[in-house]
Amino acid sequence: GGQPQQLQGAVALKEIEIYAASGRYQVGANLHSFYRVVPKGEASSRPTGASADLGRNLIGQHIASDVILNAMTGFKNNDNPTKPLVLSFHGSSGTGKSLASQLIVKNIFKKGMDSRFVHFFDSVINFPHASQVETYKSQLQHWIRGNVTNCAHSMFIFDQMDKMHPAIIDGIKPFMDYQYKLDGVSYQKAIFIFLGNAGGEIIRESTLVSWKAGKKREELKLEDVKTALSSVVFDFCVWESSLFDMSNVVDFFIPFLPLERQHIVQCIMVEMVAMGLQPDHNKVCEMADKIVVYIPDDERRISVSGCKRVASRLRHFMQ
Ligand SMILES: Nc1ncnc2c1ncn2[C@@H]1O[C@H](COP(=O)(O)OP(=O)(O)O)[C@@H](O)[C@H]1O
Ligand SMILES: [Mg+2]
Repeated sequence: GGQPQQLQGAVALKEIEIYAASGRYQVGANLHSFYRVVPKGEASSRPTGASADLGRNLIGQHIASDVILNAMTGFKNNDNPTKPLVLSFHGSSGTGKSLASQLIVKNIFKKGMDSRFVHFFDSVINFPHASQVETYKSQLQHWIRGNVTNCAHSMFIFDQMDKMHPAIIDGIKPFMDYQYKLDGVSYQKAIFIFLGNAGGEIIRESTLVSWKAGKKREELKLEDVKTALSSVVFDFCVWESSLFDMSNVVDFFIPFLPLERQHIVQCIMVEMVAMGLQPDHNKVCEMADKIVVYIPDDERRISVSGCKRVASRLRHFMQ
């Protein structure tokens, strides 16, 4: 990942070579063949498709998995995208937003988040001082412009988007719009991903309402969440700023549902296997109750912090 201050990290144009896109027209959605032009040596050669990856690794997020896959497939099959792909992930903490963005990245770039073409920013860490917004804004604009000039397929991920100053968002919005070229540079093959907690409450409410109505989680559709979500997202977007409206440039608003006990159980299983332990179902269930707080108080349905800190608590618990 790159800091906006370190423009020297931009990639030299000569390093970018045509990557033979074998299987580009294959049925299915292997993201490693997503780009026709991927910097040599950077194209992911992972044999698994995004579908399998998202489905297997992203627990309990059927809506997000479907929408992401759909978005990526559409973008991949489009020779001439008219704008960069802009995804906005919404949901409370620990529901898998960062994980999903990493899975997308891994399927495109072999080095994953370590790729020079993937640029990660955390609003709180990278743009902490309101007094500096003009500086951040121009550095970020330079950074995006420089990197897209060098690699059209650059990816930019912004975490804690709900804490990003509106002036900075205003500054990067033009890159994401329908433009043939902006100042001589085409941004149409770039990908922007925003991660944030905005809308988390609303998504949680929608999930609970649907559950109380006797619906299965898997029956919950994007549409059930979308209307409620869009009003909140709009609210957060117009925060302090009447100038910009993100919904004009975001192609997909993607809800991450709150995780339930059954998903925590799965997360613990995964962690235990990663720790080289033999997961015992009864023991795992016992831990799912011990290491995670569930709400609402009476129903104890939803994990407050998703799968976040499950790994560290598990380790602590095992000692
Ligand atoms: N839906 C999920 N499926 C599998 N693992 C998850 C899921 N949600 C969270 N985790 C795990 O919990 C931890 C925190 O998840 P993360 O993706 O950082 O959450 P977020 O970015 O939404 O706050 C990570 O170790 C991640 O692997
Ligand atoms: Mg995160």
